[in-house]
Amino acid sequence: MSNASIAERAKQVLFPNYRQAPIALVRGLGSRVWDADGKEYLDFLGGIATCALGHNHPAVRRAVEAQLQELWHASNLVYTEPQVELAERLVSDGHAERAFFCNSGAEANEGALKLVRKWQRENGHPERFEILCAEQSFHGRTMGALAATGQPKYHRGFEPLPEGFKHLPFGDLAAFTAAVGESTAAILVECIQGEAGVRVPPPGFIAGLRKLADERGLLLVFDEVQGGMGRTGKLFSFEWENVEPDVFTLAKSLGNGLPIGALLAKERVARVFQPGTHASTFGGNPVTCSAAVAVYDELENGALVRGALGAQRLWRGLEALKADSGGLVEQVRGRGMWVGLQLADDRASRVLARARDLSLLVNAIGDRVIRLAPSLLVSDGDIDEGVQRLAEAIRTA
Ligand SMILES: Cc1ncc(COP(=O)(O)O)c(C=O)c1O
Repeated sequence: MSNASIAERAKQVLFPNYRQAPIALVRGLGSRVWDADGKEYLDFLGGIATCALGHNHPAVRRAVEAQLQELWHASNLVYTEPQVELAERLVSDGHAERAFFCNSGAEANEGALKLVRKWQRENGHPERFEILCAEQSFHGRTMGALAATGQPKYHRGFEPLPEGFKHLPFGDLAAFTAAVGESTAAILVECIQGEAGVRVPPPGFIAGLRKLADERGLLLVFDEVQGGMGRTGKLFSFEWENVEPDVFTLAKSLGNGLPIGALLAKERVARVFQPGTHASTFGGNPVTCSAAVAVYDELENGALVRGALGAQRLWRGLEALKADSGGLVEQVRGRGMWVGLQLADDRASRVLARARDLSLLVNAIGDRVIRLAPSLLVSDGDIDEGVQRLAEAIRTA
């Protein structure tokens, strides 16, 4: 099977909702992937910020293979140890006290939306249902998560969306403060906005939201779906802000490519999800939870540190790329192994295609931003090679 023949078959049978590159990937190892024509690529996208430990990581593979020998699925009518183990890991540093598992980022956020409403209701405030979100945010494609998403282009055609969401400029604490009213239940933000082009808020914004939430009796929810699990050089991106959320969500890198999401919360909040309030058939599946336990352990046992070191090299390279780009690159932003390159003109899709020709996979956000989300374990040699290929792609796009 070739790239072309797989693409041809795909066009006959798949929904036309994605704009796929004209390649079919068949294999991955570390920071390398191969397509159906046998071409090798350096992968600086990692399944859209998902394979934080690279492809086919041996410890994750071993954990999954071992679990496959035992039990694939059981439901939540019984306990399974991998689910408990993963929850123990995720609450071990005290940022949360309880975990609920599901299958994706959107599903984790849906859980968060329900949780904050229920919590306000149970605490004597049934009138508090509204959630303050940020403009340009991204929280997923299911109806609630979509309504929370601050990008009208994703709403179009799906109205009416669920009510109870207000969008304020990301980084504008005064706007968030002014928007709090009788009906406000919670604030939901990403600490760095991934799908908006890896946008970092001004210092103090996230801490300001914490203070605002405390003063007004709101819950503070962080969407760590893209920024969590080591992407920024810390386990969770909110750790850079020294701010504790009441609730946060994970997905993407949690399973290093296997589908799993998580909703984490403090005890006083989580306890309102009593039996019958919320559930997910596949949530807490023993295979994906085993993968995530291995991911967590790898992060703790060196991958986080390696990622932070590698990121320093990546950033040095990208700053040099910017300096030598003749003004084609305006800004390098983000944190850790999570970077947005702001281009001076709208050549992002051309850069993306050119990079692919040069055997480098990156991704474009809008017309002017190139996103990089390499594995935390990418080698120094691959970092240098990736930066060099990217520089050439930008120059020749
Ligand atoms: C911050 C954030 N939240 C939620 C989502 C949705 O996750 P999923 O596609 O797994 O539903 C994404 C996906 O890009 C995301 O970046």
